[in-house]
Amino acid sequence: MADYVISCRTHLIILATFLLVLLTLYISPYNHHSIINTDFISSSSWSSILHERPYSLSKPSLLLATSSTTSNDDNGILSATSEKLVGAEKIEDDLARARDAIRKAIFTRNYTSNKAEDFVPTGTVYRNSYAFHQSHIEMEKTFKIWTYKEGESPLVHEGPLSLLYAIEGHFIEEMESKKNPFAAQNPAEAHAFFLPFSVTNMRTYFYMPLYNSYSFDPIQHFVTDYVRVISEKYHYWNRSNGGDHFMVSCHDWAPCISDKDPKLFKNFIRVLCNANSSERFKPGRDVSLPEFKVEGKGLLTSTQFHASGTNRSILGFFAGGGHRHIRKILLKHWKNKDNELQVHEYLPKGQDYGGFMAQSKFCLCPSGYEVASPRLVEAIHAACVPVIMSEHYVLPFSDVLDWSKFSIQITVEEIPQLKTMLQAITNEEYLKLQKGVIQVQRHFTLNRPAQRFDIIHMILHSVWLRRINFHLPS
Ligand SMILES: *[C@@H]1O[C@H](CO)[C@@H](O)[C@H](O)[C@H]1NC(C)=O
Ligand SMILES: *[C@@H]1O[C@H](CO)[C@@H](O)[C@H](O)[C@H]1NC(C)=O
Ligand SMILES: *[C@@H]1O[C@H](CO)[C@@H](O)[C@H](O)[C@H]1NC(C)=O
Ligand SMILES: *[C@@H]1O[C@H](CO)[C@@H](O)[C@H](O)[C@H]1NC(C)=O
Repeated sequence: MADYVISCRTHLIILATFLLVLLTLYISPYNHHSIINTDFISSSSWSSILHERPYSLSKPSLLLATSSTTSNDDNGILSATSEKLVGAEKIEDDLARARDAIRKAIFTRNYTSNKAEDFVPTGTVYRNSYAFHQSHIEMEKTFKIWTYKEGESPLVHEGPLSLLYAIEGHFIEEMESKKNPFAAQNPAEAHAFFLPFSVTNMRTYFYMPLYNSYSFDPIQHFVTDYVRVISEKYHYWNRSNGGDHFMVSCHDWAPCISDKDPKLFKNFIRVLCNANSSERFKPGRDVSLPEFKVEGKGLLTSTQFHASGTNRSILGFFAGGGHRHIRKILLKHWKNKDNELQVHEYLPKGQDYGGFMAQSKFCLCPSGYEVASPRLVEAIHAACVPVIMSEHYVLPFSDVLDWSKFSIQITVEEIPQLKTMLQAITNEEYLKLQKGVIQVQRHFTLNRPAQRFDIIHMILHSVWLRRINFHLPS
């Protein structure tokens, strides 16, 4: 079993341990190109970071004094030069302090906090629980995000709050909430900038009811135009070439926004459900967003589940359409073939999908039209160990979480042996995996307003990690 997990996870698990990502900046603290060097992501040397020199706060400062973007603006949109200097310098110092604290936590294997910690991440589900914990503490202490006000709903400032793409709308609402503790008071103090447009809403309003086309053009035009407006009006996009700016979308089409003009979006952080690494999703820059299906308000949290149930009568469960080749192969081999490995092409009416998951040891999560599947989050909430069947899928939050500790990954070639493989997992191994699943439930729980370590915080933390690896050019 152990061998099998190791052999089949390699191309699926994203190796972007966040410390390896951090490594770049220690080696080249003021990298003028200021882009995460993804070469380090595939490096496996964890120990090297421990021997790096501590990050120094007394580096030559990142003043924009020599910058030519000195412009005063009557309406105050562009701040005076001196304020800009202070702003950019303070931002870099904030981030340097956070890096130091994270490094210290790694060395001392403990956290530093000026508050009582109600939750301490521990255990093997984390790639480095100390680094993650400290990084989350620093994020809460420091991270300020400016959400651009430009644009009008429904294309900007709102998104879907239910069904498959719901996470998009909930994230936008959360960022724009008056109570959002991460909201910057003004753009000058922001460490990151959020572009609150909704690709799902664009898809709805541009394409229905009359414009019945499958061209990405209107979406690409809208987003490019949005970037043009904010980069002419403010200097922040140009300052970083978009590298401290991000978007969030769960729609299948969202990656298309950058296809027309890859240069413009070269550094832009795209938080996407459709995290297909063979379609230009870049793990060091982009963030994999979990698909989170919301049906009515009740499903926002996992409190109704938590079924640990060791007494599960179904070995493996799947119900769904036969979209694309992985599912076709799965259905071909297993549909209605086996009582223990229950594979259905849609459940008969009246059958309880969630109930099946809660009675199953393993829940199959094959890719469909796109790599992501809402089953991943559903399985986690049903304390059912996910069996991930996908190609080129960068798993959500994999800079922080070690998916091999709470899921199984199966290649397409292994599908015919699926039952034997699941049966070969000993009860002891299974209980460990299931314990891991229950442990990560909190990270896949959607609370409104957001709470510490929940799904919204995990998304923010993914952006935060990328931001602390990015330096404003001097
Ligand atoms: C870790 O740090 C916390 C807070 O600083 C402290 O209360 C705790 O005793 C420390 N734990 C260890 C094992 O040193
Ligand atoms: C940012 O760069 C673009 C393209 O070069 C330019 O049109 C725009 O005016 C610049 N913005 C500012 C605020 O200088
Ligand atoms: C386990 O599940 C089976 C079938 O669902 C049931 O008949 C049995 O009573 C359960 N055993 C325990 C200990 O809950
Ligand atoms: C991921 O991208 C590759 C390359 O474009 C494509 O062939 C594959 O179908 C994609 N996967 C899914 C599940 O869409």
